[in-house]
Amino acid sequence: MRKKIIAANWKMNMTIGETEAFFGTFLRELGDERKVEVVIVPPFLAIAKASELLRSAQGVKLGAQNMHWEKPGAFTGEVCAAMLRDVFCNYVVLGHSERRTYFGETDAIVNKKVLAAHANTLRPILCIGETLAERDGGLVEKVLDTQIRGSMAGLTAEQVEETVIAYEPVWAIGTGRTATPQQAQDAHAFIRKTVAEIWGQAAADKVRIQYGGSVKPANTAELMSQPDIDGALVGGASLDPRGFAEIVHNTARVLG
Ligand code: PGA
Repeated sequence: MRKKIIAANWKMNMTIGETEAFFGTFLRELGDERKVEVVIVPPFLAIAKASELLRSAQGVKLGAQNMHWEKPGAFTGEVCAAMLRDVFCNYVVLGHSERRTYFGETDAIVNKKVLAAHANTLRPILCIGETLAERDGGLVEKVLDTQIRGSMAGLTAEQVEETVIAYEPVWAIGTGRTATPQQAQDAHAFIRKTVAEIWGQAAADKVRIQYGGSVKPANTAELMSQPDIDGALVGGASLDPRGFAEIVHNTARVLG
């Protein structure tokens, strides 16, 4: 009942020319696959081109990697929700661990962005996850609980249903070291249980929870077969149009 959602987080990669080349191959390889929701998340400067290229590709959606929480105004260097709507983004990735680590984003800052996204009918893909030291210290549940309560504070149950949570263990991002399907499933089940405690079982049943961290074509099926894993946020492997299409197809195959 929860539609699986596979998103490509291109991070700080892809020029406009490379974006054009990507879609040429990707849309051909994707074919008429519509069982899985696909979201492409380019860097800001490539979004308008991606939007133009996707106009005829029914069903493939767009997202941004970050945004500011304020309305248009004097915030040099920033991009706001209205600008993302203008280029037809439906999603915005918020609180990615790279933003938290390199740009000092706290749960309080991420929370302002999550609320602003909903206020502008953008769906957040909210990233949470523990570091290796936190996992080794037995703190996984404590960290996830704090991030959920902090980053999602003030959301209504309806807004939670429209939010995608991405569980991305920091130690698995870009390292080639994927969480085992069981480790990921355990974290996802805990996240869903926490959402149920705060916003009720109906919201918890509807919220989609993606796994992220070294997802590739070869490990997709096993991860996507877990009952609480509703999709993937794919970094490195999403830059290859054939490989990314394979990740989508392998997800669709799990659905039968
Ligand atoms: P990765 O990145 O797939 O390269 O590990 C995932 C992410 O950071 O979203």
